Amino acid sequence: MTSIDAGPTGALRVAPSILAADFGELGNAVRTIDAETDWLHVDVMDGHFVPNVSIGPPVVQSIRRYSSRFFDCHLMMSEPGRYLEAFQKAGADGCTVHVEVGGTASLISDARALGLRVGLAANPDTAFDKVAPFLGDIDLLLLMTVFPGFGGQSFMGEVMPKVAEARREVDVNALALDIEVDGGIDLATAPIAVAAGANVLVAGSAIFGRPAPLEAARALRVAARDAQR
Ligand code: DX5
Ligand code: ZN
Repeated sequence: MTSIDAGPTGALRVAPSILAADFGELGNAVRTIDAETDWLHVDVMDGHFVPNVSIGPPVVQSIRRYSSRFFDCHLMMSEPGRYLEAFQKAGADGCTVHVEVGGTASLISDARALGLRVGLAANPDTAFDKVAPFLGDIDLLLLMTVFPGFGGQSFMGEVMPKVAEARREVDVNALALDIEVDGGIDLATAPIAVAAGANVLVAGSAIFGRPAPLEAARALRVAARDAQR
C-alpha cells in the first residue's frame, strides 16, 4: 500500500480521533468530517499498556476505503513491534509507539523500514529527557495531555511546559518534527496547546461528540489558527 503524504512538517493540523465516533457508523463518520480532516487519528488500545481495548488492523483496512487522508495510528500497546507490519499493510501511513514500552530505537527503525512515518509518544508523567535522545530519528512527538486509555478526559495543562520545551528543541536545532497533543483538546484548550508549541491537535469528543462534527472540527481549526498568530 502506498502511503499518503503527511504534508509540510510543522504546519497546523487537526486530527480527529475516531475513538469518539459511533463504531457502527465509522465509514460515514470519517466521510462526514473529511473536509476538515488533515490527519485521521486512529487510537489502538491493547488492554495491556492501557486498561481498554479498541480497534486493530482490520478496522483500519475497512475505513481506508472511506478516506484518502493521512492515517495517524497511535499504538497504545505493550508490544507494538508485533503489529507494525499489519498496520502498514492495512493502510496506516504513520505509527506512533510509546516510549514507556522500551525498545524505542529498534521500534523506530522497524517502523522506518516499513515506510511508515514514525511517531514517539510520552505519557503526561514521562519526562522530556526520555524522548529527547530520539528527536532526530522521528517525524512526530506525541505529548499526551491525558493518561491514555479513554476518550473524554480533561486536558492536563501541566503538560504545557513539556510542549514548550519540545518546541524550543525543535526550533533551536531546526528539527523536522511535528509536535502533537492528544487528550481533552477542545475550543478552550486547543489555543493553549498551540500557544505552547503544538502543531497537531488530536480531538475526539470535541468533534465526534458534538451534534455537528464537521462544524466542530472547523471551529477547532479556527481557534487554533488564531492562537498561532
Ligand atoms: C486517549 C486517546 C485519545 C482520545 C482523545 O487515550 O489517545 O486520542 O481519543 O479523546 P478526547 O479528545 O475525547 O480527549
Ligand atoms: Zn490518541
